[in-house]
Amino acid sequence: MDSNALYNITYGLYVVGCISDDKPAGCIINTCFQVTSENPSLAICLNKKNYTLDCIKKNPRFSISIISEDTVPMIISSFGFRSSRDADKYADFGYDELDGTPAVRGSFCGRLILDAVNFIDCGTHVIVIGKLVGSYAGSGTPMTYAYYHRVIKGNAPENAPTYRTPQESE
Ligand SMILES: Cc1cc2nc3c(=O)[nH]c(=O)nc-3n(C[C@H](O)[C@H](O)[C@H](O)COP(=O)(O)O)c2cc1C
Repeated sequence: MDSNALYNITYGLYVVGCISDDKPAGCIINTCFQVTSENPSLAICLNKKNYTLDCIKKNPRFSISIISEDTVPMIISSFGFRSSRDADKYADFGYDELDGTPAVRGSFCGRLILDAVNFIDCGTHVIVIGKLVGSYAGSGTPMTYAYYHRVIKGNAPENAPTYRTPQESE
């Protein structure tokens, strides 16, 4: 198999916000796409080890903040490389409560509010189908996963579905 073909799939970058025991939690994802337009629904893919999945299973409402090229990169490192199990990821940024779910403060292209309605087991990961219950416009140019790698020089941790080993990244 030539995995280079896989690397040509394009993505954006997003912050998922959710609530755990009255505390805000969440993580970075690149796997998000719209599934239906009528009664809009979206899919996100979460690693079973990620606390964010545990939270959404307990409390189905979550937010998706669409990362822009102006979003401070520290939000990506803070939300993408630590677990809410042992860190308050919102401490440095603050958050707004949007329709009962946390949305980290900052510059974003928009915010979507969803209710998880289905969980599809994919082995190491789970696809969460969310019904869109709210949306808020933002500003800026959406950051692509390619921009994150090329301009921000960022990488992804092992829990990301698109993780590449250092050898694969060369
Ligand atoms: C660029 C980037 C993309 C990521 N994409 C995903 C993803 O699509 N799905 C996922 O489960 N984790 C993804 N991650 C990893 C999670 O953000 C990371 O494992 C996080 O620490 C989980 O935190 P939690 O335990 O609080 O949920 C990504 C991380 C980065 C930096």
